[in-house]
Amino acid sequence: MGKIAPSILSADFARLGEQVEAISRGGADFVHVDVMDGHFVPNISFGSAVMKSLNKVETAPYDVHLMIENPDAYLGDFVTDKTEYIVVHQEACRHLHRTVQNIKSHGVKAGVALNPATPVSSLECILEDLDLVLVMSVNPGFGGQKFIPQAVEKIKELDQIRKEKGYDFQIEIDGGINLDNAKMVMEAGCDIFVAGSAVFKAENLEERMHEFKKILSE
Ligand code: DX5
Ligand code: ZN
Repeated sequence: MGKIAPSILSADFARLGEQVEAISRGGADFVHVDVMDGHFVPNISFGSAVMKSLNKVETAPYDVHLMIENPDAYLGDFVTDKTEYIVVHQEACRHLHRTVQNIKSHGVKAGVALNPATPVSSLECILEDLDLVLVMSVNPGFGGQKFIPQAVEKIKELDQIRKEKGYDFQIEIDGGINLDNAKMVMEAGCDIFVAGSAVFKAENLEERMHEFKKILSE
């Protein structure tokens, strides 16, 4: 059964608390928190203060996706009782092993994201230390982009490696996921599905969550 992590990047920020409660009621497994700095990606989203404001409402645990340069300087700001994963980009970390250890030292699970042009082999030496690998199926920076199909091959490759080596990292996909392609990606071996516009642009968020949950449980 696949897990769903709606991305609040596509939420209505004027109604953020209410919308996060709705997706959590609808069965969200994680709240996907997209942090962008205008340097690593060509867009600025929001910082830890916005995420922490959600601590006041009933939410699923946070899955924090840091699309920022120098993540070591900021990742401590994103550690809360509700933070399950902190995910950094392979391309943004000069000393990736150190960054992963840094995340774990906060008692949080560590993930690494791969841009569409970054191969799975770039993680070969660190896969056994990871709790999660996030495969980007769009170029990071914006919600609402078209799914890049080559991501499916990366999911299959990661799934095969973890079976062969007995690793237990989760595989997450992010970008362009919708009700039509989620099942196919799950069959490739994916565990966690980020969906931004496909959830938050729906008329009824709770109902949309039920639709996703149904597809991911079949
Ligand atoms: C893209 C972000 C994604 C984005 C997904 O840089 O990392 O999490 O919000 O949005 P959709 O599902 O609309 O592609
Ligand atoms: Zn994301």
